[in-house]
Amino acid sequence: MKLVFATNNLNKLKEVQALLPDHIQLLGLSEIGCTEDIPETSDTIEGNAIQKAEYVKKHYGYDCFADDTGLEVKILNGDPGVYSARYAGETKDAQANMDKLLENLKDKNNREAQFKTVISLKIGEKLDTFTGICSGTITSEKKGKQGFGYDPIFLPDGYEKTFAELALSEKNLISHRARAIKKLIEFLSS
Ligand code: IMP
Repeated sequence: MKLVFATNNLNKLKEVQALLPDHIQLLGLSEIGCTEDIPETSDTIEGNAIQKAEYVKKHYGYDCFADDTGLEVKILNGDPGVYSARYAGETKDAQANMDKLLENLKDKNNREAQFKTVISLKIGEKLDTFTGICSGTITSEKKGKQGFGYDPIFLPDGYEKTFAELALSEKNLISHRARAIKKLIEFLSS
């Protein structure tokens, strides 16, 4: 069975393919000739994941799954959430995003936050979603050099290191994305 993962990231593709049963052949967007930007206009993380998977099914005919992730900060009513990539503007600058978040939390005691990944899977007419959460707190300063995005200011619960101070192999044991992918793989393997 051919299944599209709506991503251009070859590392992500390889990683997930290695975890899937042999009868599933994963294809990336470039392999199906999808080079345009897929619209992501929903105001929820779930909505964007669904929009991307349905776009591929509708325009290219392939069964597909798509992921979308955001960082939700409790005292900011879930912001930056679906706007995590462009919190500080359309340039999608990770440093500026973190600076803005730290500024908005400057006087706040409650720094609870969670990363949320939603994967939406469209097979035929059927739609399923799988959610992975990683809970933690936002630090008061950036620490660590690994990873990307908000990693230097996210301290996962139960750890004394930020995501950016953890090795990728350690982050992958507990991350929101790994948890959502695990649910997807269990579903596809059953
Ligand atoms: P995407 O949906 O995977 O593109 O994620 C959207 C945005 O959320 C990214 O541009 C990052 O700002 C942030 N983000 C997603 N996953 C992570 C992560 O594992 N660590 C830090 N930031 C992340």
